[in-house]
Amino acid sequence: MDSSTPIIVKTFHGLETVLAEELRALGASDVRPLKRAVSCTGDLGFIYRANYELRTALRVLVPIHTFEVSNEKAYYRAVREVEWNQYLDVAGTLAVDAVLSGGIFRHSQYMALLTKDAIVDYYRDRYARRPDVNPEAPHLRVHARIHGSKCTLLLDASGDSLHKRGYRRDTVEAPLNEVLAAGLVLLSGWNDTGPFVDPMCGSGTIAIEAALLAANIPPQHGRPSFGFFRWKNFDRKLWERLKAQADARAKTPVFTIYASDKDTRARNATAINLLSAGLEQLVQVQKMPFEKLTPPEPPGILITNPPYDERLRTDDVAQFYKAIGDRLKKHWTGWTAWIISSNREALKHLGLHPAQKTVLYNGALECVFQKFELYEGSRKA
Ligand SMILES: C[S@@+](CC[C@H](N)C(=O)[O-])C[C@H]1O[C@@H](n2cnc3c(N)ncnc32)[C@H](O)[C@@H]1O
Repeated sequence: MDSSTPIIVKTFHGLETVLAEELRALGASDVRPLKRAVSCTGDLGFIYRANYELRTALRVLVPIHTFEVSNEKAYYRAVREVEWNQYLDVAGTLAVDAVLSGGIFRHSQYMALLTKDAIVDYYRDRYARRPDVNPEAPHLRVHARIHGSKCTLLLDASGDSLHKRGYRRDTVEAPLNEVLAAGLVLLSGWNDTGPFVDPMCGSGTIAIEAALLAANIPPQHGRPSFGFFRWKNFDRKLWERLKAQADARAKTPVFTIYASDKDTRARNATAINLLSAGLEQLVQVQKMPFEKLTPPEPPGILITNPPYDERLRTDDVAQFYKAIGDRLKKHWTGWTAWIISSNREALKHLGLHPAQKTVLYNGALECVFQKFELYEGSRKA
């Protein structure tokens, strides 16, 4: 895989531009934001670094073959024509999935099976043997993306989704996905530029991702393995060198990160996850309701994910968000607050005028991530 190897990095809706920036900073060429993904080019070492160092990547994929066909027979033939031997030994194991859109082919499970059959038959032709299927930890994971008649076969360099950083030991209800949490911090523009507060921290995901960023620690520092470890061309020396170089860029942050929650279990979960990430020195954790929390000095940035509380009565949610807004206006002057919520109605009850809005998805829930500048006398415009 030379320096012009095409790469597709998947992310969540709304994080394409921050991921594109991350890729450029990492040295990718031809960076192009797509829908829930960014394409670029890079070499094998870059694929390792992308997996290890990108904060908003969910999966790193390498497209190896693109073709157009209009029926299943032609599809099977096109898949079988690929020189699979360069990617997988016959004694290795394989997993295949398929995603379809646009109508020509109907069933994704059937297309996954057909893809697997074509690959397996490629080996049978040559060796009279075939690789086994192993859905959990295969040597090679292949994705087929079929849009109308346009088909792409991609190798999955990540294995498990990259939100699995390896630090989460405990959770409370409704934890944010780690990739989304990192995306919130990057979208806000904060990077150890002042104190950082998450006053409703739950299991601490936002604070942990902020601490990893501030300390310039690779997000996958605690992750034991990646899909590319099992690739035929895995270059362990190159991986170890790039990992050591990335680890050596860690620094001591200037500012403290504060995580608090009214709930004891949430405070404890955050403390446990911080210990597991080795970040306990960088984040101060306390049990405290937001209504009583006083801001540290100097003013900095607050990012939080309050309950959206579809289950609470509307009056209560309105009252709760109004109380958050009142507290921000009264006590957090000079700060910038960012709030993510799926409850647009409740957000209006903050009584603050958003300076910026980004639509993001927390799982299936459409959310809006809003920025509020808390200057003296700030009120709804
Ligand atoms: C959606 S969860 C946050 C999840 C968190 N982002 C994570 O990744 O685990 C909302 C949190 O707000 C806390 N909370 C609710 N009302 C609060 C209040 N008035 N003051 C402080 N925390 C509050 C809850 O205890 C809960 O842990």
